[in-house]
Amino acid sequence: MFYHPDGTLPGDVWEIIPEDTQKRKEHYAVYPEDLCKIPILATCPINGIVLDPFSGSGTTSLVAIKHNRKSIGIDISEEYIEFSKKRIDEYKYENSGVLQLFNEE
Ligand SMILES: C[S@@+](CC[C@H](N)C(=O)[O-])C[C@H]1O[C@@H](n2cnc3c(N)ncnc32)[C@H](O)[C@@H]1O
Repeated sequence: MFYHPDGTLPGDVWEIIPEDTQKRKEHYAVYPEDLCKIPILATCPINGIVLDPFSGSGTTSLVAIKHNRKSIGIDISEEYIEFSKKRIDEYKYENSGVLQLFNEE
């Protein structure tokens, strides 16, 4: 039996730990980041584009960016789009060189 050098396909059952980071106050149906991490890593190459046309609080876009993919998020609610932008900007700021320098002091 041979295994593919890039790894095996994900199984049919995924064990995903529920997060306490879900933004339930801001959106009614936020899903755990791991739920979209598995399909993004399995189907989208690095620098590829992930599209979520019902993006809600922006979890899919956030996970895509965390894993070096680009992302387009669409939602009918302006409020959710604004919340998603803020969530993603906070992640980018927390992971910028500026904050790392600040933390090293
Ligand atoms: C189940 S939620 C998605 C939640 C998302 N997975 C998350 O982690 O936050 C579905 C979203 O679809 C949006 N929606 C509903 N009808 C839509 C439409 N016609 N066009 C775009 N977005 C729509 C809703 O505003 C809602 O935020």
